[in-house]
Formats: sequence, structure tokens, C-alpha cells
Amino acid sequence: MVTGWPNMSNPADDTFFFILGISLTFLVLNTGAMIYFVVRYGKKRHPRAEEVKESIPLEITWTVIPTLLVLAIFFVGWKGFQYMRTAPPDAMVVKVIARQWSWTFDYENGKETTVLKVPVRKPVKLLITSADVLHSLYIPAYRIKEDCVPGMETHLWFLPDEVGSYDLFCTEYCGVSHSDMITKVEVMSQQNFNAWYKSGTRIAKAGKKKIGKRLPGGNKLLQDKGCIACHSMDGTAKVGPTFKGLYGRKVIVVTDGKEREIIADDEYIRRSIKAPPADVVKGFQPIMPVLQLSDDEINEIVEYFKTLK
Ligand code: CUA
Repeated sequence: MVTGWPNMSNPADDTFFFILGISLTFLVLNTGAMIYFVVRYGKKRHPRAEEVKESIPLEITWTVIPTLLVLAIFFVGWKGFQYMRTAPPDAMVVKVIARQWSWTFDYENGKETTVLKVPVRKPVKLLITSADVLHSLYIPAYRIKEDCVPGMETHLWFLPDEVGSYDLFCTEYCGVSHSDMITKVEVMSQQNFNAWYKSGTRIAKAGKKKIGKRLPGGNKLLQDKGCIACHSMDGTAKVGPTFKGLYGRKVIVVTDGKEREIIADDEYIRRSIKAPPADVVKGFQPIMPVLQLSDDEINEIVEYFKTLK
């Protein structure tokens, strides 16, 4: 479902309609010529077929016209590509990290979100990367799409012209929960954005050193890092086992191809996060990716599990 389609002209649309226009013109011309030839040169009016020998003027015509058309399409596409590649210098920069299977948006002041919040009528430049496999960031309302490549930074920009909420999702198959990689672009008034942007900044900066970094808590970490795409917190089975009542539970895992029963304690949870294939819970596939989590963050998660009865 795609929501909130802003009414805007965009190079992608221009190129689309340009090509559509050419296609429609030739649909009419070709169909018309076909019908004319069927009538004019049918057996009734033209009983004896004639062979047409090569005609230089015809050859030139049907070589030159398509060449010009293709060049025109290239030119329009190239103009649009250049426009989309060149962000205005005053654009607000947001770093995007795609991972299996969630999005993180990092702002210059240290704020981090799972929904892309932007002020209206201010250009936004996204610097995009991936923590694991190839993903692709797609915002259909702004007609923009860019690959998220591990170990590389790609970029694009857009101008949100109306307040509203627009879909942002992954458009490259990246594993079982690919379809869960959907979130929103929330376009806010400048005033609302400023209020949000200045509220509760997590990282206080003193020179280049980060001080007073407060962790966002286990629950938020599980959401931010995309864990809940595969693990429920309410007992429902998803791609992975539920987190509910996990801590202290007896689990049957497969270790090196052999089943064994263990207690889900701190050590087991840490190991499962750091080296997911080490012990795979029986009945589940070994598909969990390795996440970039610090030891402190893992501790937060373990502590949170203890409360999830
Ligand atoms: Cu990420 Cu599909």
C-alpha cells in the first residue's frame, strides 16, 4: 500500500511521460499505417503482389528518425539523472543504515530513529549504506531509489513538498523478512521538526569525544536493530523464536549438528547474538544475521529479557 502521493513534478515523471508520449504517437502512427496498407494493398484492390527493391531514402528515414528519438530519450533521462545526483549544498544530511530487516536514520546531532523525520520544503540528502547484504531504499512518493551496499556509501536527495506520511521500503529481495523492511518518511512542519530535533538528544558532544551516551534501553534496541522483525515479544512464532519468557527457559538447540538441551542464560543469549549459528533453536533455520552491537548494548538486551516473562 502506498500512501500520500504528493502532487509534484519530478524528472522521473517527466522522463516517463516523455517516453509514454513517443510510444503513444507511434502506436497511433503504426496502427494507422497498418490499417491503411491492409485496405489499400488487399487482394481486392491489389491482386498482383510486387517486390519492392531497396530504397535509399526509406533506409535513411527509418535509421535517422529512431536514432534521433533514442538520443532525445537519452538526453531527457540524463538531465533527470543529473538532477537527482546533485543535492543542493544546503541539504540536511541524514545517514541511512539498512540491515536485515530494519532501517536506522542517523542525524547530525546524534539523534537516531527508525522513521525518517524531515522538515517540509527543505532538501534532504541521504547517505546510504548497509550493515549486511544488498538492500535498496525506495520512496515511491518522491520517485527515488538507491541501492544500499555494504562497505560503500551511496546517496540521493529529495525535496519533501507537503506535510504528510509517505512509504519508505526495501525494494531488493534481502531474505525472509524483506517485506518487513517498510517504514515511513514523516514530513513535518519546520516548527514541529525543530521541536522534535532538539528534544532528548542522546549523544552530548564534547570536542570529538562522546560523553554521557545513554543507551536507549533493551526494548528500543530490539526495535532499532530490527530484532523484532523476526522475534516477537508476545509469544507468537515468527521467523525466529519469541523473546517472551526466553530468559531462564529450557531450549533445545542444534550445536554442530547435534541436539542438546540448555538453559537460556546470559551466556547463551550473548553467544546467540554474537555468533548466531553457534546454537540454533530446534525447528528454526540458521538465518540470523550478525548484528553490530556493542557489549553494553548486548547487556541492555539481556537485562531486558529478564523482565519479559
Ligand atoms: Cu532489505 Cu529487502
